Order: sequence, then structure tokens, then C-alpha cells
Amino acid sequence: MTELLGKDLLGIEDLNREAIVSILDTAVSFKDVSAREIKKVPTLRGKTVINLFYEPSTRTRTSFEIAAKRMSADAINISVAASSVKKGETLKDTALNLEAMNPDCIVVRHASSGAPHMLAEYMECSVINGGDGFHEHPSQALLDILTVSEKLGGVDKIKGVNVLIVGDVAHSRVARSNILGFTKLGAKVTVSGPPTMIPVGIEELGCKVEYNMAKAIKDADVVMMLRIQLERQGTALFPTAREYAKLFGLDALKLKSAKDDVIILHPGPINRGVEIAPDVADGPWSLILNQVTNGVAVRMALFYMLLGGARE
Ligand code: CP
Repeated sequence: MTELLGKDLLGIEDLNREAIVSILDTAVSFKDVSAREIKKVPTLRGKTVINLFYEPSTRTRTSFEIAAKRMSADAINISVAASSVKKGETLKDTALNLEAMNPDCIVVRHASSGAPHMLAEYMECSVINGGDGFHEHPSQALLDILTVSEKLGGVDKIKGVNVLIVGDVAHSRVARSNILGFTKLGAKVTVSGPPTMIPVGIEELGCKVEYNMAKAIKDADVVMMLRIQLERQGTALFPTAREYAKLFGLDALKLKSAKDDVIILHPGPINRGVEIAPDVADGPWSLILNQVTNGVAVRMALFYMLLGGARE
């Protein structure tokens, strides 16, 4: 099983269909652990996982930590604000010093695309990409795919499904990983958003572009709304939040023209009233919290497959 993944998980671009299906199957087998009263298995006892997050995170960091603990691994969180990074230590030096303490895996989130790839070259332990710049967020895409697969009744049902991804595609590592992941499973992916948020050449990843969201939503089986990344450069890319919400926000009016059994996803955190209306985020079509629940199972599966639990 480990051969399907190699030493690290850096991006969906490195995975073939077989590897994605294997991760999803393993995640399904771990879901039961989180539903038990005693939410722990001894599988990774004695292993050490370090969460090294250079950007804020609620879901990903907590989910990796919970996943490690449910597998009985020791999980350590490095708060960059309280680390020697603040004294000028480079990413490489930080990584080499952490490696000198013999961890088995480092989960890294970084604002620079490619940072986890650089670490993976220097480090002997496994490196998992917890989100790098605008590049990839592979564990997010895997949990999104698992959520859709569960709802449809199996990963094979994803073939031919229309997935619509709406919003700031240009700055979204979630969009990139999901386009790659869903297309590898045979889904048809369309992206929509203002032209300023759709990068030139995005079709090369295997998706289509439809700038008119109201039109695109009619055929969608899955609608994934992206967060407007105000902390990056969202404000410069559209005139007002109100106008953005009108044209590209998912509200009850736009939902009326969607299929009756449409699936709504959002990686979180959500900007209520901007990219998604509160009644839609909390409504019956929304699987946003299922995504979060599935995140723990997916990350347990990744630890299991990368850290040797599969071999044992
Ligand atoms: N979806 C996601 O990456 O959320 P966080 O930024 O809270 O980890």
C-alpha cells in the first residue's frame, strides 16, 4: 500500500486513481474509530508527528492532530509565532533541527508554493502538505472527494458527475487539488468566478470555464464554493462584496435552478453572506460539516499509509 504513496504526500498531482481510491477506502475503514466511545487504536504507537503551520488553520491542524492521537501517535504542534522562526531561522534550518529529534512525519502549511516539496528533499521523515501557497491542499481534496463519494454511494459513482467550483480559483490551492482529484476519478469539473479570479490556462488541468455561475449551476451535481481570500488580494479582484455575492455567491435564489439533489461543499472557513448565504450553508444540501468529520478519517488513512501501519 505504501508504494502507492511513496515517502510523502505533497499533492494530488502525484497520485494516480488507484492511490486515491486506496486512501479513500482506508479512510472509510477508520471512520468507525471516531464513532466509538474510546476513540483510539494502537496502530501508530511510538510514532511522532509534528504539525508545522506557518499560516493560520482551524480545521487542518486540529484534524491532523486528532487523527494522529486517534492512531496513538505522539502529536506535537509548533506555533510559528512562538518558535525560533521569529528569531530569523530559515524553513530549512527549522526542518533540519526538527528532523534531528527523529519525528516520523511533519505536516507543513506554508504561504509559499513548493515549501513542503523543499522540506521533503531535505528530510528523511514523511512530509505531508497541509496547504502550500496557491499550489495544493491534497488532504482537503481527498476529504472533499470522500464526502461526495459517501453521498453518491461509492467512488465509482463519481465518474461523469458534474462538479462546479466557484470563486477565487486563482488563489485557491483547494480548487487546484480538487480539479486534479475529481478529474482523475472521471468527474467533469467546471470552474466559475469573475475573470480576475480565473487563471489563464486553467483548462490545462482538465476543467472547463463558465464565467456565468447562474448558468453553470443548472447542470452541477456538486457545487463547491471557495472562500474569498480577503487576506490575500480579494478586495482588488472585485468591486464590492455585495456585487460579488450577487453574481457569484450561492444563495437560495441561485439554488432554485440547481438539481434537487445537488451537493454543496465549502472547505471553510466560510464568509457568510459573501460566497455563501447562511441559510444555504446551514441548509439540507450542505455537507460542509460532513467534510470536516471526514477530514479526520482521511488524515488517519494518510498517517497509516505513510508511517508504516499498512505494513504492520
Ligand atoms: N479548509 C482548511 O484548510 O481550513 P483551515 O484553514 O482552517 O485549516
